[in-house]
Amino acid sequence: MFSSLNALAPDPILGLIALANKDLNANKIDLGVGVYKNESGATPIMTAVKTAEHNCAEKELTKAYIGPAGPVAFNSGIRELIFGAQHSALQAERVRTVLTPGGCGALRVGAEFLKRCSENATVWVSDPTWANHLPLLSNAGLQLAEYPYYEAGRAGVKFDEMMSALHNVGRGDIVLLHGCCHNPCGADLSEEQWRELTALAAKNGFLPFIDLAYQGFGRGLDEDAYGIRYMAEHLPELLVASSCSKNFGLYRERVGSLSVLGDNPVQSDAALTHVNNVVRGNYSMPPSHGGAIVGEILADSALRQQWQRELTDMRDRINQLRVLLVDKLAAQNVDRDFSFIAQQHGMFSFLGLSVAQVDQLREQFSIYMVGSSRINIAGINQANIDYLALSIAAVLAS
Ligand code: LMR
Repeated sequence: MFSSLNALAPDPILGLIALANKDLNANKIDLGVGVYKNESGATPIMTAVKTAEHNCAEKELTKAYIGPAGPVAFNSGIRELIFGAQHSALQAERVRTVLTPGGCGALRVGAEFLKRCSENATVWVSDPTWANHLPLLSNAGLQLAEYPYYEAGRAGVKFDEMMSALHNVGRGDIVLLHGCCHNPCGADLSEEQWRELTALAAKNGFLPFIDLAYQGFGRGLDEDAYGIRYMAEHLPELLVASSCSKNFGLYRERVGSLSVLGDNPVQSDAALTHVNNVVRGNYSMPPSHGGAIVGEILADSALRQQWQRELTDMRDRINQLRVLLVDKLAAQNVDRDFSFIAQQHGMFSFLGLSVAQVDQLREQFSIYMVGSSRINIAGINQANIDYLALSIAAVLAS
């Protein structure tokens, strides 16, 4: 049966890990996969996570099943982090949240749930979007379409074109949005644009499905949730997939959440039975370890403060590197304006290079990035930034 299979090409993002690991050049810079790295190029476990992990191990009394929705402490803590504890939708008990295996698990469970709600639904995704959105959504049987989003020339959002495309999207269809720190382009909607988009969703009746993979990495925990909170205040229904991979550094533990906002508590409860049923039919229930750590941090005020400080340090470092990279490139007298990098948010930005230039950076300079020229800003540090700017300038000049 397996003899008919041809080997697949490596995943466009994960494949870079193996490629970079094999490269022994001492000057190598890995700006590929979206993993936070500190000034020394390491991805250490956050101190708050280490302490919470210890506390959880001490407190845990059983390894019995936790059920498809996961632990209540995690679900309520993460819901309040995403929506804000005082949000009207939470006060009205309209939001139900489950723990999922990472943000990917949330996207996939959400997609299967949406397929049940709207058999022939199309999900509209931004052009471009995170490469893995496509299989996560289409493997659940949803059709995909694209709306214009990133304007390479301006390095910003083509909001008018996006809105005209979405004018034709109506009830029964879904629009996938990046809550903050757009992956891959780094260009986010402004608060005013979120409000305009919400008004369109209310008028047309399409369902926003928001992927919040980088809360806290852009402008701040509350600021990064602006779009979600505004939509939850003004729309009857919403779906939110969130990830704790980046903001808690829990990449390999696979911790995420799916929140369903219904029009009223009865509809939300009914929706939850379907979400739990999708989970049961996939992986039965989520692993508990990572969710327990996050639940512990969010419930303990000292740990929570410690975590927020560490998250702020990561965010500040990324934002400082953005400014520094712009300066270093300008100092190389490159014939291009890179100032947009300092205005964008989160881990990623496009350099705006061709595939051939990306290949040249990898082959000639051992600098690794996704083929679209997406760079992980957190992979830059004081020791490699001059070599990076010099190499980019050399490629642009060749
Ligand atoms: C990325 O975009 O690099 C990360 O989200 C990691 C992944 O799974 O693709």
